[in-house]
Amino acid sequence: MRQKIVAGNWKMHKNAEETEDLLNELIDKLPHDIEAQIIVAPTFTNLASAVDHLEFTNIGVAAQNMSQFESGAYTGEISADMLKSIGVNTVLIGHSERRAYFNETDFILADKVTTALKNNMTVIFCFGEELKDRQNKQHFNVVENQLRDGLFHIKDKDWEQIVLAYEPVWAIGTGETATPDQAQEMHRFIRETVRHTFGSNVAEDVSILYGGSVKPENAKEIFSKTDVDGGLIGGAALKASDFAAIVSSI
Ligand code: 13P
Repeated sequence: MRQKIVAGNWKMHKNAEETEDLLNELIDKLPHDIEAQIIVAPTFTNLASAVDHLEFTNIGVAAQNMSQFESGAYTGEISADMLKSIGVNTVLIGHSERRAYFNETDFILADKVTTALKNNMTVIFCFGEELKDRQNKQHFNVVENQLRDGLFHIKDKDWEQIVLAYEPVWAIGTGETATPDQAQEMHRFIRETVRHTFGSNVAEDVSILYGGSVKPENAKEIFSKTDVDGGLIGGAALKASDFAAIVSSI
């Protein structure tokens, strides 16, 4: 079933104490009676305490990344099993910052997706074109290829564990948001691309989030679009009142 979701990607922000402070503020400010799923993704070092802290709330916890390998001599990596052992069952895979700064290719991302699914995790699969792609009118092609190469190897039944997050790179952290119509146009294209390969049931059920400079001032209009099922929020997720206002806009 398609679900409304608002997720906050904290990126490399907030130490242990700051994480606790922000979580307390969120517990205080976030609406409790909302149907949408609310998720926060703090850094690895603060995931376990976030899970503990949020145990009796309506706020879920996701990791920002995980290894494609199950275990072994991979210094510095975190496995799916490690995440699950502390109660984290959701993971972001394919964020543009992982792609751009840590050389995560579609091939690596496809392996990460496979490993996450094998471990029964929910994957928030992130993708989106760069500015030059849009300027060259290649944005639909780029997005389609990212989906086909990183994700479309999965089986029909796996889609229950997939959330899509379209994040145009040119809108991330830049203050420049896709217009609601640009977001809707791309989200519709994404849903049609899924439909083409996996059929209507899968396409209608999958949640597609928009990410890229979502703020309290623009969230409502973006979320009102038919094929936008929520948001993946960066900067504005670090301020409890802003994130709460965005969640309330869904
Ligand atoms: P901003 O909301 O800061 O643009 O970041 C979006 C993002 O990258 C979420 O994953």
